[in-house]
Amino acid sequence: MNMKVLAIETSCDETSVAIVENGDTICSLIVNSQIDIQKAFGGVVPEIAARSHIEVILPVIQQALDAAACDWDDIDAIAVTQGPGLLGSLLIGVLTARTLAWSMQKPLYAVHHILGHIYANWITAGPVYSTPYPTAQPEFPILALIVSGGHTQLMLATYHNDWRVIGRTRDDAVGEAFDKVAKVLGLPYPGGPSVAKAAENGDSQKYRLPMPQVDTPYDFSFSGLKTAVLRAVQRECGKQHDFPSFELAKLLNQQQVSDFAASFQTQAIKYLVTKTKKAFDEFQPKTVIIGGGVAASLPLRTALSEAIPLEIQYAPPLLCTDNAAMIGARAYFQSKSEDPIDPHSVETKPSWPL
Ligand code: KG4
Ligand code: ZN
Repeated sequence: MNMKVLAIETSCDETSVAIVENGDTICSLIVNSQIDIQKAFGGVVPEIAARSHIEVILPVIQQALDAAACDWDDIDAIAVTQGPGLLGSLLIGVLTARTLAWSMQKPLYAVHHILGHIYANWITAGPVYSTPYPTAQPEFPILALIVSGGHTQLMLATYHNDWRVIGRTRDDAVGEAFDKVAKVLGLPYPGGPSVAKAAENGDSQKYRLPMPQVDTPYDFSFSGLKTAVLRAVQRECGKQHDFPSFELAKLLNQQQVSDFAASFQTQAIKYLVTKTKKAFDEFQPKTVIIGGGVAASLPLRTALSEAIPLEIQYAPPLLCTDNAAMIGARAYFQSKSEDPIDPHSVETKPSWPL
């Protein structure tokens, strides 16, 4: 039987609603990004994010229904990101989903944001993007590298309800490191795409940066690498450690910015790829997938494909960054083995370890 899920994602600074059929087909996807608002502050300001969600959530839901030519009778279930994420942002999505599930009498599924990023890889059809969808769904056992603004982790599963974390970052997430390095270099938010663009004209060997060290095989650490970039920029500009980081960009020329961007990006990617390859060799999965905003990085995709003798699966870039379609996809597979959650009692889970 066909199942259409209306999914809501508001964990950070995107208000997104999608209608997804059978976990693999997007009927409609609306992503209302606050990037233009947050850019002015160089990052996400939680209160501003929450206020913006309140303003747009209901129109975005209506747009998603209209774009799919659906009314509420066509919707079989509602899904929402329950966490992890910003409390104020999650609240808007969860309260909206609770209210709709109760008033429209629909089953409600609460989805973990990171599992959502993973299940973006189950989507094989929908609007046409510049990059194609995967032709087939991932086959278990699966090794997943999740790389986003809030998370960096390696995960394994032998079936849909068996996801376990084998390694995670001990401090900053890789996307966060990209965003902070971008700030030091005077590049716009979000840092991932702007660092990638600057790096295209840069020499990745120009500045020697350390490879982060942790004493467990699959954990990560990015704060040392981020600080190493700051120190190298201060040195390059002839400034001391206490020189304010936000004053540095003015002292760099365009070539220096590109060389720093390339040196940092290359080192961060080498680090991610080395750990993922090690996990691949140990666990011998049938499929390797990448998910999360940084999975949109072409150099990361290329480096991983060169290191691992399997076709690496990834979603079109718009489905790598935060979106509701991935939440609808995960909810479908969740519904196969889990009962819906009671809309009266579902709460947000701002920190939700898997
Ligand atoms: O998954 P996501 O949209 O939000 C979180 O759940 O955190 O990831 C956002 C992160 C940001 O840090 C952004 O800089 C990074 O993904 N990002 C990229 C690219 N596009 C977005 N990083 C590298 N290359 C990209 N093309
Ligand atoms: Zn995310």
